[in-house]
Amino acid sequence: MQTIQSVNEMQSHAIGLRSSGRLIALVPTMGCLHEGHLSLIDIAKEKADKVIVSIFVNPTQFGPNEDYDKYPRMLEQDIEKCRERGADIVFNPSLSEMYPEGFSTYVNEEEITDGLCGISRPNHFRGVTTVCLKLFNITRPDIAVFGQKDAQQCAVIRKMVEDLNIPAEIVVGATHRDPDGLATSSRNAYLTSLQRQEALSISKSLNIAIGMVEEGVRSVDRVVAEITHHLSLSRKVRVIYVQIVHRDTMKPAREIIPGKQVITVAVWVDQTRLIDNALI
Ligand code: PAF
Repeated sequence: MQTIQSVNEMQSHAIGLRSSGRLIALVPTMGCLHEGHLSLIDIAKEKADKVIVSIFVNPTQFGPNEDYDKYPRMLEQDIEKCRERGADIVFNPSLSEMYPEGFSTYVNEEEITDGLCGISRPNHFRGVTTVCLKLFNITRPDIAVFGQKDAQQCAVIRKMVEDLNIPAEIVVGATHRDPDGLATSSRNAYLTSLQRQEALSISKSLNIAIGMVEEGVRSVDRVVAEITHHLSLSRKVRVIYVQIVHRDTMKPAREIIPGKQVITVAVWVDQTRLIDNALI
């Protein structure tokens, strides 16, 4: 497995791979790799000849009071995990490689980013689309693999790819969960065991909601109220949003139509912001 830090080297290598007919899959990450990321590498390996994992903690997607500085960075372990999982290249550029002095161009999707995390994290998606387009231009993937846990991010990236005619297929891997049900996330590392216990109310409330939908409940308000009530029983959990939205547009649903929507949840567990969702 190779590691590449230079944008130019990565780009010419990717162009070479493509011209020799190899299918490239990109797994974009911010590092601190967990089983969720590694399952995306597995998907990438099934679909392509060469798997590139990018590891870059992208400052432009963090707000001024967010956790950019304390975001867990463990490059050596991450590289080892990529090697063990069978990735071909780790692309881990420095900040100045990705954002040289004078950088001033950003990509903005203007519809799907309107609600949900777009409200509570202004400019977050502008940072995500900007860095993803840069990563796509640098690594030239045929396929890029993202995780369903970031449902809104997946919808925004799909839309950017469609709107800007980017020749890459977006593949979404299922949310990976720890045995206790908590969706795997690099930010879970911030949780104490008590906070983690309380955070389990997120997946439990989503499971209750799935049960209601399976039993035939079609009222958005009833399902949202049930999730919110369940979350409110955990003293360390503060709801940022609970919404049922259309999977592609992320616009609020009026009534539940199974097969088309996703229940999205964002909460604070004390100082840690966690998101999760369930396709319904
Ligand atoms: O999902 C993430 O880890 C990040 O948002 C991504 C896609 C790697 C862009 O920085």
